[in-house]
Amino acid sequence: MAIRSVILGCGSYLPARVLTNADLARMVETSDEWITERTGIKSRHIAADGELTSDLAYNAALAALAHAGVAADELDLIVLATATPDHTFPATATRVQARLGMTRGAAFDVQAVCSGFIYALSVADNFIKAGQARTALVIGAETFSRILDWTDRGTCVLFGDGAGAVVLRAEDNPGTAADRGILSTHLHSDGRHHDLLYVDGGPSATQTVGHLRMKGQEVFKHAVVNLAEVVREALDTNGLTAADITWLVPHQANRRIIEGTGRKLKLPPERVVVTVDHHGNTSAASIPLALCEAVLDGRIRRGDLVLLEAMGGGFTWGGALVRW
Ligand code: UT7
Repeated sequence: MAIRSVILGCGSYLPARVLTNADLARMVETSDEWITERTGIKSRHIAADGELTSDLAYNAALAALAHAGVAADELDLIVLATATPDHTFPATATRVQARLGMTRGAAFDVQAVCSGFIYALSVADNFIKAGQARTALVIGAETFSRILDWTDRGTCVLFGDGAGAVVLRAEDNPGTAADRGILSTHLHSDGRHHDLLYVDGGPSATQTVGHLRMKGQEVFKHAVVNLAEVVREALDTNGLTAADITWLVPHQANRRIIEGTGRKLKLPPERVVVTVDHHGNTSAASIPLALCEAVLDGRIRRGDLVLLEAMGGGFTWGGALVRW
């Protein structure tokens, strides 16, 4: 027997304001054609003035709890992935905890930028498997619009704001790849590449918030290699092959990277969940946003094998295999 973390439900939240490529072409020297061709992005959501990462996270959490049929007082853990917290401290997770009216258990943030959701899912899964939590809320929430240099066309066209969440619960299972729940998670980082994707501010370094800086082509090259490796690792660990995967739900950074991973797995494009076109890159929020969209519209069903993968600043990267 094995304790598995079963995903009971999911929810998401997107700010109301939509920024299109045409809007961006009025702000910087760019075009809908360039953005679409290089990234697949058409539009993204941008948080309103005063709308914080915790607001996005709270709304996604409420939706996930409702979908799961779980009350906030049943939760004993909140793990929130973000690189854009409301404040340096306390953790944004504790603000969400307070608004949900949850007074027991623990709530904390994890920071792995675009891999943040995989990291948070892995942390929560390990708490559950160790018997330290029974019901957990895992959130990815970001307001990247606040750390973009809106004069840098190489980065400001790529990102958007949003939040997604899942509710996990411990379940006793036989311990085979046919089990429902998270089958395995795989985390990696390589800090030698921290200067290829970073923010040029921070409380200790500059006492400013700073702006996102990225060497896009370099990141692209590493992403393709690292994602292929972690996908292979996830399948091998479970004695599964690419043919067993029902859905690929990748981090949504660039349509070309997403399609490349899908092709390597020989998955038909209709088995790959793509939201980058209408969300842009929402960093830690992108996987739960995509997952939730495909669950709520009926594409992902009970028994499906779902592969999640992401790569982000650090570098960090990771994957997770989940039986829905
Ligand atoms: O989520 C974390 C992980 N992040 C990623 O996975 C991002 C990975 N990287 C990428 O997705 C791509 O590298 C980008 C989409 C960021 C850029 O695409 P690219 O094909 O690598 O373009 P590039 O950076 O090599 O730029 C090509 C040209 C340059 O002009 P020159 O030097 O060839 O004259 C840029 O100045 O495109 C120019 N350019 C733009 N032109 C119009 C850069 N940004 C823009 C823009 N509009 N917004």
